[in-house]
Amino acid sequence: MIRRMGNRLERILVTGGAGFVGSTLAVAFKQRFPETEVLALDNLRRRGAELILHRLYQHGIKFVHGDIRVAADLPVGDFDLLLECSAEPSVLAGYHTAPDYLLHTNLTGALHCLEFCRLRCPRLIFISTSRVYSIPRLRQLSLRETATRFAMEATQGIPGASDQGIDEDFPTSGPRSLYGATKLAAEMFVEEYRHAYGLKTVIDRCGVLAGPWQMGKQDQGVFTFWMAGHFFNRPLRYIGFGGHGKQVRDLLHAEDLASLVLEQAGALDQWDGSTVNVGGGVEVSLSLREATELCRRMTGNSPSIAEEPKDRPMDVPCYLSDCSRLFSRTEWRPRHGPERILSDTFEWMRKHETALRSVL
Ligand SMILES: NC(=O)c1ccc[n+]([C@@H]2O[C@H](COP(=O)([O-])OP(=O)(O)OC[C@H]3O[C@@H](n4cnc5c(N)ncnc54)[C@H](O)[C@@H]3O)[C@@H](O)[C@H]2O)c1
Repeated sequence: MIRRMGNRLERILVTGGAGFVGSTLAVAFKQRFPETEVLALDNLRRRGAELILHRLYQHGIKFVHGDIRVAADLPVGDFDLLLECSAEPSVLAGYHTAPDYLLHTNLTGALHCLEFCRLRCPRLIFISTSRVYSIPRLRQLSLRETATRFAMEATQGIPGASDQGIDEDFPTSGPRSLYGATKLAAEMFVEEYRHAYGLKTVIDRCGVLAGPWQMGKQDQGVFTFWMAGHFFNRPLRYIGFGGHGKQVRDLLHAEDLASLVLEQAGALDQWDGSTVNVGGGVEVSLSLREATELCRRMTGNSPSIAEEPKDRPMDVPCYLSDCSRLFSRTEWRPRHGPERILSDTFEWMRKHETALRSVL
């Protein structure tokens, strides 16, 4: 039986709450609603998550060590909102290792979160990914090459694609990585649980997120990884698409995501049932080559960058979020440009250099 209540947010659970996105959302909610109990659940699987615990405590956020693969690890008692941010978020997960951790966390774990919602938390904001879109179709986009990047042509023969990027009508059929498939499957169950049990739900399909507290790795959190390579002066590689670093992504500061999620949580009746792309779009996008220039300027370091022309599996030369659907519903817009995202990341590394040296 789902607990019915008004729009009060007395207790919020953030799964993956010691991760980059989860902790950023937890802090933003605690700052906006100081009286609200914000509980962060995480199994500390992500290297560096342990450093985030201090951030949570500093902001008065409770932490519970738990694993969403185990239903009994989800907390007891009633909650008003679940922000589901736990995942194995690497697009390469399962390709060089067995996929069981990915599947059990992103699929079974998501189902445990939905059961938790059915029984004791009537509202859910599910952080999903642009990786739900078909990789073969993304690789068919008509691109033009400029001096520093690939750019999308205005006319594309694929639904949901234009020079503004990829919108929600873009095909999701066909391979989209094991990671993308788990997130798409979880999205489908979010819809089913909403329909069957009356949950109020929002699905945010995020492009690349970046900013402080992202423990960036080559296969996840690439702009942070790139900044770290410059900051610690370590060799880097342009991998794939000729090896010139012209691959492009839009990016979004995690604090911009937090301001959107706060708005959605405050008006879940209006947002209920929506699935929207969330990203910086063309305006807030960078190629790796362009990122190199900014990172060099900020850090004063120029690490060597090898050129490896061969593409990595599941990689695409260009992804830009077309957020027209989102923008038609809200005044919210990304406030941080690419330079600001990288400079915030740089300042964070400066401040926590000793702790981050062994993690990033
Ligand atoms: N970072 C991005 O660019 C990006 C882009 C699109 C979508 N997302 C989505 O955002 C969400 C958060 O990603 P992130 O970037 O913060 O990654 P992250 O790795 O920093 O955070 C995920 C957290 O989940 C925890 N976790 C992993 N398995 C768990 C389990 N079985 N039980 C409990 N906790 C577990 C990890 O320890 C980690 O702290 C994910 O759902 C991801 O799919 C991220």
